[in-house]
Amino acid sequence: MYKLYVNPNVKKGHINKELYGNFSEHLGRCIYEGLYVGENSDIPNVNGMRTDVVEALKEMKLPVLRWPGGCFADEYHWKDGIGPKETRKKMINTHWGGVVEDNSFGTHEFMELCRQIGCETYINGNVGSGTVQEMSEWVEYMTFKGVSPMADLRKKNGHEEPWTVDYFGVGNENWGCGGNMRPEYYGDLYRRYQTYIRNYGAVKPVKKIACGANAGDFHWTEKVLETCFDHSSGCLMDGLSLHYYTIPNGRWEVKGSSTDFDEKSWYQTLSRTLYMETLIKGHGAIMDKYDPDKKIGMMIDEWGTWYDVEPGTNPGFLYQQSTMRDALVAGINLNLFNKHCDRVKMANIAQLVNVLQSVILTEGPKMVKTPTYHVFNMYKFHQEGELLDSHIDTELIGVEDDFKVPNLTESVSVAADGKIHVTLTNLSCSEDYDIEGFFAETDIKSVKADILTEEMHAHNTFDAPETVKTASFAGIKATGNKLSFKMPKCSVMHIEVTV
Ligand code: AHR
Repeated sequence: MYKLYVNPNVKKGHINKELYGNFSEHLGRCIYEGLYVGENSDIPNVNGMRTDVVEALKEMKLPVLRWPGGCFADEYHWKDGIGPKETRKKMINTHWGGVVEDNSFGTHEFMELCRQIGCETYINGNVGSGTVQEMSEWVEYMTFKGVSPMADLRKKNGHEEPWTVDYFGVGNENWGCGGNMRPEYYGDLYRRYQTYIRNYGAVKPVKKIACGANAGDFHWTEKVLETCFDHSSGCLMDGLSLHYYTIPNGRWEVKGSSTDFDEKSWYQTLSRTLYMETLIKGHGAIMDKYDPDKKIGMMIDEWGTWYDVEPGTNPGFLYQQSTMRDALVAGINLNLFNKHCDRVKMANIAQLVNVLQSVILTEGPKMVKTPTYHVFNMYKFHQEGELLDSHIDTELIGVEDDFKVPNLTESVSVAADGKIHVTLTNLSCSEDYDIEGFFAETDIKSVKADILTEEMHAHNTFDAPETVKTASFAGIKATGNKLSFKMPKCSVMHIEVTV
C-alpha cells in the first residue's frame, strides 16, 4: 500500500498555465503540413491553418506557443516572411534537412495561428546572425500602434492593429547553434539587444527571455546572470531559458528507437527524465543567489524525448513516434514543473507536430493524437491552479542500479472553482500499486478519475489512431477523507476531487 498525503490547507505557489506550453519550429513537417497547409489545400483549413490540428490544440488548452525556432531562429530573418507570398525570399533551411524554406509561413501567419488556437505568443529573435536593428524593428512591426516605418509596413501588409507579443526570446542556444558564444559574451550581447525591445505602450509589456543553459551547464547560468543581472536597476530579463532533452541511452550518436525498446531502456529513459529535477534545483540555486525573490522565471522552453528518426524518414526532419513511454516522460516532467512552480514559469515541449515529442502527428489529411497529447489533455486542469502541499510514499524500482526510479510521482493543485486535481504516474512497466490518498481535515464529497494505460510500446498510428486514449477510471473509492484505488502499471492518471 502506498500512501498519498494532500493538505488542501497549504498552498505552495501558483501554477502558470504557461508550464503547459509548446514549441513550433521550421523543422521537418512541423509548420508546413503539420500546422499550415495553405488556403488552397484540400485539407480543411481556416486561412491556411489545419482545422483538425487547431481544434485538437484548443481542446488541450494550449496556452502559449514558441516560434520560429530553435536553431532555425538564429538564421531567420523576419522580413523574408512578410508581404505578398509570391515575392517572399526562399532560403535553405541549413539546420534541418537542407530543404527550401519558401517563407510562406511568417509573422502574420504565426499570429493568425495563435489567434485561432487562442494562445499566447512567444517569438524567438535572432542574435546569432541578426542585427540589433533587425530585432528591434521586428518588435516595432508587431507591437507598435502609432505611425512609424515598421507599423506602417505592417498596415501595408494588411494588419492594421498591432499584435500582442507575450514573450520574446533574445537568441536561442547561443552557446551552440546560435553562435557558439561564451556566456560572458552572450551576456553582454543580451544587455545590448534587450535594450531595444521596447514596450510601445502595449497593454501587456513584452516579457524578455535570455538564452539559458544546455542541461547541466551551470557555468553558463552563473556567468550570464553575473553579466546581466543589474543589482542597481533591477533585472534586465523576465526569464532565463533551460533546454534539456531525454535521450534514452544518453548518447547523441545512437539515441535509440522510439518504439523498439526493452525494460532496461524504459527505466533509463525515465531515470534520465527525472534528472530534470536536479537541473531545476541546480540552476534554481544559482538564480536564487541573484534573484532571491524569484522574479526571473526559469523557462524550460525545450524539453522532451529525442530518439533516432523513424526508419526511412529524412534524418534532418527529426520525425519520431510517441509511445506510452513518452506519456510517462510527459507526466513525470509536468508533475515536476508543477512542484517547482515557484521558479519554473514556462515550459515548452518540443515540438508541437511531427517532430520530437509531438502531441500531434499528421500524414496528408490524417491526424493522430499521441499519448503525450492525452497527458497534456489530462493535466490541463492544473493550469492557473494553486499547488497544494502533497507527498507520496515510493520505493525505488528498475533493472539496473544506476537507473533506479521511484515507482510513483504526483502533483496536486486546487482550481479556482475549488476542485482538487491530482495527477499521478506509475513508472513501473510490470507492477500495479494499491494507493490510499489522505486529505488533511477535509471530507471528500465526490471523486472521478481518468487514466491512460497500455502496454509500454503502445502508440497511435494512422491506421489505428485510438490504440492509446484516455478512459474513465471507475476503480476509485472515496470514504471520509480517504481515497483508495489500484493504479495499473505503466499509467498516467488524473483524479478530480470535490470537497
Ligand atoms: O528541437 C530541435 C533543436 O534542439 C532545436 O532547434 C534546438 O534549439 C535544440 O538544439
